[in-house]
Amino acid sequence: MSLTLTEKIIKNHLVSGNMKTGSEIGIRIDQTLTQDSTGTMAYLQFEAMGVDKVKTKRSVAYIDHNMLQTGPENADDHLYIQTVAKKHGIYFSKPGNGICHQVHLERFSVPGETLLGSDSHTPTCGGMGMLAIGAGGLDVAVAMAGGEYRILMPAVVNVELTGRLNKFSTAKDIILEVLKQFTVKGGVNKIFEYTGEGVKHLSVPERGTITNMGAELGATTSIFPSDERALEFLRAQGREKDFTEIKADNDAVYSEKIVIDLSALQPNAALPHSPDAVVPVNQVKGTKLNQVAIGSCTNSSYVDMMKVANILDGKTVHENVSLVISPGSKQVLTMLASNGALSKMIAAGARILESGCGPCIGMGQAPNTNGVSLRTFNRNFKGRCGTDTADVYLVSPEVAAYSAIKGYIAGDDEFDYDADLDIVIPEQFSQQDNMIISPADNGSEIEIIRGPNIKPFPKNKEAGSKIGGKVLVKVGDNITTDDIMPSNAKLLPYRSNIPYLSEFCMTTIDKDFPKKAKENNGGIIVAGKNYGQGSSREHAALAPLYLGIKAVLAKSFARIHKSNLINNGIIPMTFMNEANYGDIDEMDELVINNLLIQLENEIITVDNITKNKKYKMELTLSQMQTEIIKSGGLLNYMTLKNNV
Ligand code: F3S
Repeated sequence: MSLTLTEKIIKNHLVSGNMKTGSEIGIRIDQTLTQDSTGTMAYLQFEAMGVDKVKTKRSVAYIDHNMLQTGPENADDHLYIQTVAKKHGIYFSKPGNGICHQVHLERFSVPGETLLGSDSHTPTCGGMGMLAIGAGGLDVAVAMAGGEYRILMPAVVNVELTGRLNKFSTAKDIILEVLKQFTVKGGVNKIFEYTGEGVKHLSVPERGTITNMGAELGATTSIFPSDERALEFLRAQGREKDFTEIKADNDAVYSEKIVIDLSALQPNAALPHSPDAVVPVNQVKGTKLNQVAIGSCTNSSYVDMMKVANILDGKTVHENVSLVISPGSKQVLTMLASNGALSKMIAAGARILESGCGPCIGMGQAPNTNGVSLRTFNRNFKGRCGTDTADVYLVSPEVAAYSAIKGYIAGDDEFDYDADLDIVIPEQFSQQDNMIISPADNGSEIEIIRGPNIKPFPKNKEAGSKIGGKVLVKVGDNITTDDIMPSNAKLLPYRSNIPYLSEFCMTTIDKDFPKKAKENNGGIIVAGKNYGQGSSREHAALAPLYLGIKAVLAKSFARIHKSNLINNGIIPMTFMNEANYGDIDEMDELVINNLLIQLENEIITVDNITKNKKYKMELTLSQMQTEIIKSGGLLNYMTLKNNV
């Protein structure tokens, strides 16, 4: 039978289930990655499972999100991650070595393998033909302990690329086009598989840009075939031995298909405040800028940076613009330094940041009040940059560089047709891995160092027969995990301190939410569509758990957040009749009776005591998820069943 690339990899890793679209499957995970923002919690959870050494082929702990050291908290967390990694068989990528996805693509990606990462942009390695999925930290901890990863068998969407990009159109414009067509809600439980003649004109880092930002579709992941371009990249990385060719069968059957003619694509821009608000860049031409930020896991490869350097060569950044550039990895930075490209950037007036996430999550370089920031990143949700009043536009590195010189968003008639933008993958990348620390041969000799900021994570009790509480907040559509649990320069140092973080839970929506939760002994959240979109942040479930949230009633959920809620014993239910959403007001008292019996059905009855009404809610859980909810979360389940 003919198979898609996705089906081939899943078939090779299938542990349970039958690959019928929409049914639950369990897959074996070959590799994991964590970053510091979610990793601390993942390793605390891994430790709680009592497993000595990771059972994956390769697990890597990165430090890239929070590298500001304005107090001891971050340094303490980094030291905890470094020592826990060394003890338990995990590679450790030191701060400064680069952004997790960029480094993983360069040094660890292997075609045909599975990768689970506690970061929503883990699909970047889909650019190398990996099945690379973002998940919550606890799922990653379970995978490190040898447990399967359970997902719904996704529908596979075929994106056929024809033709070839013209000089000023880029991989970023391809994914912005896909986002325009599918929107931030359009990819749930889908995998986007790229095929067609146009694929062979895209290098692996360009493919990585597309699969990275495929996360904004809400998709399970995105994937490219492993072909001669994958071999070219691996060879240049000194990893030719990791190459295998893997692609879809010619007559593979897809659930949906779109065709994009690359030669017809124009430079695009995503408008504030959503990555799917995409228009041709010419439509926002002339928008005055305060800041331009180039980098992030989407656009910080050697190829991207070389194009930027060549555009900036001999020019000066506009007097009203602060241009910040973060090369994606030590490898990229080293090569820019040795070939003179870095000098071109500095000479033009760019500020060079270290290789990390930095401005992407407001870790420094927050724009001015009411400022306008043009970024090559993947997300522009309100406030994510660190300034609530700022407008963030998303574009390609080329548009960003031209605009930094002009002081406003440049239209395509203002690009320099003589600039050398025909950058190819070098024959050899710099391969100095001295900022990647190998695990110890004998982990028992390693002492884990825990600073005072490392607090135990909250644990849930086993579910009782009845739950209930007041509706503490009612929110609309597309609430992000940033809205639920903000992550900014002030809060990120406390990622391993849930009691402190919970004081800020939902406060961008209702500043009294934590107080109300405490006064009412927890409660329930009511939400619109696509609740929990965006970052994979498990803290958006852990902080509500700490505050006693028992259930979320929503019109629909984003995939990773829904599973994070289940993993933490919070019940995510969807309205069978969306009109019931309108019925419920904040502070209504809701009750679910006979919970343990009702959990066995797919329909749960919720009583609104205040309004004397009943609502039918859908709760589609696998048998294992039902057990997880009954146990009060995945960690309890694993511990109770010793099911690692
Ligand atoms: Fe980092 Fe931003 Fe990517 S936070 S991992 S650069 S989305």
